[in-house]
Amino acid sequence: MRYRTIGTDPRTRREVSVLALGAMLFGTRTDEATAFAILDRYVEAGGTFIDTSDNYAFWENGGQGGESEELLGRWRRSRGVGNEIVIATKLGARPLAPGTSYVDNPEGLSAKVIRESAERSRDRLGMDRLDLLYAHIEDTTVPLRETVEGFAELVAEGTVGLLGVSNHWTWRVERARAIAAAAGLPGYEVLQYQHSYLKERADLPTELSPHGSPGNASPDLISYLHENPELTLVAYSPLLKGAYVRSDSDRPLGPAYDHAGTPARLAALREVAAETGATVNQVVLAWLLGGELPVIPLVGFSSVAQLEEALAAVDLDLTPEQRARLDGAH
Ligand SMILES: NC(=O)c1ccc[n+]([C@@H]2O[C@H](COP(=O)([O-])OP(=O)(O)OC[C@H]3O[C@@H](n4cnc5c(N)ncnc54)[C@H](OP(=O)(O)O)[C@@H]3O)[C@@H](O)[C@H]2O)c1
Repeated sequence: MRYRTIGTDPRTRREVSVLALGAMLFGTRTDEATAFAILDRYVEAGGTFIDTSDNYAFWENGGQGGESEELLGRWRRSRGVGNEIVIATKLGARPLAPGTSYVDNPEGLSAKVIRESAERSRDRLGMDRLDLLYAHIEDTTVPLRETVEGFAELVAEGTVGLLGVSNHWTWRVERARAIAAAAGLPGYEVLQYQHSYLKERADLPTELSPHGSPGNASPDLISYLHENPELTLVAYSPLLKGAYVRSDSDRPLGPAYDHAGTPARLAALREVAAETGATVNQVVLAWLLGGELPVIPLVGFSSVAQLEEALAAVDLDLTPEQRARLDGAH
C-alpha cells in the first residue's frame, strides 16, 4: 500500500492509504458477511481510508439511509478498530422522510442540521470524533457563512477532524473557503468529486442543477486543485460503477459519455492494458494514482475479488510514454 497526507493542520491532518474504500452499499445491497470480508481484507492490505454518508443507501430500500454507517459501527466494534482507520462521512443529502430524496427533501446544511446529523453519525459509527466530515451537496437556502461556522464549531469542539466538500460548484467551494479563511476558521480541505479516465460532459442538466453536473471534477475544479496543492481530490465512482468492464447493454455509459473523446480514450486504455498485462480497471486506477495531480480513487466493491484487482493497481506504475498516450487521447 502507499500513503498520502490529507489536511494541513498538525492537529487534524491524517495519513491515509492512496486507495479509499467506498462503503455506500454496505448494509443494503451488499450483505454484512460480504461487507465485513471486504473491510477485513482492505485493512489487511494496509487500507486505512473508508468512505460513507449519513444517507447511504436510502434509495435501496426507500428509507432515509444510515445502514452503511451502522454496519461500519458494528464492524469497528467487532474488530476493535480504533483511530488507525480514517472514516469519512457526509451530511446534507439525507432525505427528511422515507420515500423522498436529496433532490426534493434534503436535510441541508443549516447549523442545526450540521450539529445534529454529525452527532447521529458519531452514534451510528461509534466514534467520539469524525475523522473527516463532508458537506454532501449544496444547500443554497442557508447563508454560506452559517454552514461554514456550523462545521467550524464542531472542529473547535473536537467532534470533527477534517472538513470536506462534495458535489459543489467550484466557485461555491472557493467562496466557502474564503469566508472560513477570513474568519480564521478551518475550511474544506478534501474535495470529493466524480472523476475517472473517461471524460464526462458536465453541461447536461442533472437532478442537482439545470446548468450541468456540479459533482463532476470539471476543468475548473482541476485547475483550482493545481493552484491549491494543499487540497486533496478524492475521486468517487472512478470505475464508472463497473461500466469499463461490463457489456454496454448491462452498464451503459449514458449520454454524458456520448462524445468523440470516448472511443479515443477507450482505445488508448485497451492498448495500455494489453501492453502492461493489467486489466482496464487497473490502468484507470493507476492513471488516477500516478498523475501530476495526486488523486485518491474511492472505489466500491461487491466482492473481495474486485477489491484484490484494485489493490494490485496501487503497485502498477505506468511509464511516462504510456501516460502521455493516455493523456493525449481526446
Ligand atoms: N460524493 C458522492 O456524491 C458520491 C457518489 C457516488 C459514490 N460515492 C462514493 O464512491 C464510492 C464508489 O462509488 P461507486 O460504487 O458508485 O463506483 P465505482 O467504484 O466506480 O464502481 C464500483 C462497482 O464497479 C464494479 N466493479 C468493480 N470491480 C469490478 C470488476 N473487476 N469487474 C466487474 N465489475 C467491477 C462493481 O459493480 P457490482 O457491484 O455490480 O459488481 C462495483 O460495485 C461509493 O461507495 C461512495 O463511498 C460518493
